[in-house]
Amino acid sequence: MNTFEQMTERGHERVCFHQDPETGLRAIIAIHSTKLGNTLGGTRRWHYATEADALYDVLRLSEGMTYKAAAAALPMGGGKSVILLPKPGHRTTEAEALAMGRFVETFHGAYIAAEDVGSDPQFIDWMATQTKHVMGGERISTGGDPSPYTARGTINAMKAALAHLGKPVDFSGLTVAIQGIGHVGFGLAQLLLEAGAKVIGAEINDATRQRAIVELGLEFVDSDAALFSTECDILAPCALGGVIDANRARSLRCPIVAGAANNILDDPDEDAVILKNLGILYVPDFVSNAGGLIQLAGTHLGLTEAQIDQKIADIEGTTAQVLQDAESMPSTHAAAVALADQRIAAGPQTAQEQVHAG
Ligand code: NAI
Repeated sequence: MNTFEQMTERGHERVCFHQDPETGLRAIIAIHSTKLGNTLGGTRRWHYATEADALYDVLRLSEGMTYKAAAAALPMGGGKSVILLPKPGHRTTEAEALAMGRFVETFHGAYIAAEDVGSDPQFIDWMATQTKHVMGGERISTGGDPSPYTARGTINAMKAALAHLGKPVDFSGLTVAIQGIGHVGFGLAQLLLEAGAKVIGAEINDATRQRAIVELGLEFVDSDAALFSTECDILAPCALGGVIDANRARSLRCPIVAGAANNILDDPDEDAVILKNLGILYVPDFVSNAGGLIQLAGTHLGLTEAQIDQKIADIEGTTAQVLQDAESMPSTHAAAVALADQRIAAGPQTAQEQVHAG
């Protein structure tokens, strides 16, 4: 499919490619929808095997942001950006961040950048010297690190999943398997351990794994395959996307999948149906991982801390509603998209009223 066909199929409004001759930066910003407002989404730095892979990633991620904002009742649209690294693990440089900041600035606020896989608060702060349309840094940009909020929201989604299955909403004695003990995964593991759960992790970065062993006493399995076939109460993918496909779905030994990673399912329309048929309750990722967006968008929209806390607490109710609606629908993913579509159809005025009423 060519770019316009892909945009048309997913409903994208704008996709912009940029190359900076001085630094060699190659980046794409995709705006999926501005129907509810300006867009906010992370800047992912990644080495993609092909340009087509990068385009596919940014199109999928930006579409997911539209649903995430709408499902969280935020008057924001969906956008995302990717930087195509020349090699895996290519280190960040100030020049690269400044060039990306200038690219973001050309959108005049229709796209607001934030942290994602491969970018960090320092990168965000460098970008913030070139544009005010960036959030999540430490010194210059506003909003701070969103990952603790994402972890809290994911816990709330897990609570709704337990309740939906008629189980006690209590993590003590439960086993939770987490893939990726990065910013969100670490915080999630910490909250679950504090709540009395047993946590098993899988992590490819040695230093990150070591930190979790030393600071949290976390147990690790050797591979993703081992983690995904571990018998557990909840499986929480918190690394990259596309980790559950039809084959892997059949190897899962858990009643609930609820994680923070974006695009957990390889093909959400099909894989969510397979999970439903297998009797595995899948919490749609864009519902469970909305905490970070709520924190950043909430700050951007001028919400109070109490209003932001309330909206993160509301993830439990939204998840419960989606899981209930899904009983009479093909899948939980379909139910979550339907809820987001309803909110988009209700329009920006309603979204503005909802967010300030919270
Ligand atoms: P991160 O980069 O800090 O953490 C990801 C971790 O996963 C890293 O430690 C990495 O080494 C590990 N990892 C990567 N591939 C792996 C594999 N195959 N097996 C085991 N471990 C693997 O990223 P962060 O911020 O924690 O985000 C995690 C996921 O959650 C991403 O998909 C991100 O898009 C999503 N997300 C993050 C939010 C946030 O507030 N940071 C908000 C919403 C979604």
